[in-house]
Amino acid sequence: MLKNFWYACEFSSEVTDKPKQVKIFDLRFVLYRTFEGQVVALKDQCPHRGAALSLGWVKDGCIHCPYHGWKFQADGKCTEIPANAPETSISKRARVDSYSVREKYGFVWLFYGDLVEEDRHPLPTLPEYISGLHPVYYECTENANYARIMEANLDFAHVIAVHKKSFGQRIPLHKTIKYKVEEDEFSGVATVNYDSLGNSKSLLNFLLGGRPQMNSRLSFFLPNFTLSEISIGRNNGFDMKFVILVAHIPLSDNTTLIKRVLYRNFLTFPWLDNFFRKLDYKLAEEDASVVATLHTQTMPRISQEIHVAADALALSYRKLWQKYLEMGWGTDVSVGKSASSNGHSVEVSTSLVK
Ligand code: FES
Ligand SMILES: [Fe+2]
Repeated sequence: MLKNFWYACEFSSEVTDKPKQVKIFDLRFVLYRTFEGQVVALKDQCPHRGAALSLGWVKDGCIHCPYHGWKFQADGKCTEIPANAPETSISKRARVDSYSVREKYGFVWLFYGDLVEEDRHPLPTLPEYISGLHPVYYECTENANYARIMEANLDFAHVIAVHKKSFGQRIPLHKTIKYKVEEDEFSGVATVNYDSLGNSKSLLNFLLGGRPQMNSRLSFFLPNFTLSEISIGRNNGFDMKFVILVAHIPLSDNTTLIKRVLYRNFLTFPWLDNFFRKLDYKLAEEDASVVATLHTQTMPRISQEIHVAADALALSYRKLWQKYLEMGWGTDVSVGKSASSNGHSVEVSTSLVK
């Protein structure tokens, strides 16, 4: 796991005045929202006996431990111990770690690391047109490594095999997929145009007035966020757009909590949301079922595998990752030990949620 990055870790809509545990590998955080709407993130471990604060309650912007009721304010400082008279002084050690959090694009982002604000990478900035599209949200868990699932989301070549049965059969085969990657200090992006989506007499072709072209723009943002922008059309004035934001939250080396937002610019009736949610879930499952079988789940060194031109974006992602490991930004929390303290069950749903 990399430190000194912003982790997209929860949907904003899921953070309320009820404490919510968020797990990243063996790290546990508690999130809650104050009356003023501010999101607070603390270590999910009471300094008294170690109980999970996420089982406690929030009142007046403070969280109370479920065990003996100690009260902690948003910066982690303990301000009340029910078993002591109010005038009794409270030890300075009675505090929990607090973390910087931001909200953007429907997600809560938690900064994990020790860099001061001025030295941190910014949050991703996504193209503005996305905010005008219609979103649906859902989450699922997959039995595969988060970095490997991210790679699948950056892979221009896998559609012809992994998604063969859903839409991959429409992509022309045996043409070298080559493109340029633009990258900066923490992100990379590339675009591929597929000439045609086949010549079948499908409903899609009929609706678009002929064989459509597909434009695929894929981006990654270290450490755990990807953006896929797919547009399908014939340059005849109408493009169907799908945009998929994905937060990949590692629970262990081979389990990942996936939080996806699927945007579209067509058939935006809310009663069709579930149809599109299921469609996107099917594609996510197609990816994960194969990624789960990779011989090595954690990311191997670049030289340990074979690469072709189409893998350039994933390689850019790996190189950046490697660069930060060499800078000492790797932490050993990714070693999948069994849960340490506070491992009360995280509510993870494998079914679709709204
Ligand atoms: S364990 Fe939290 S108050 Fe005692
Ligand atoms: Fe895929």
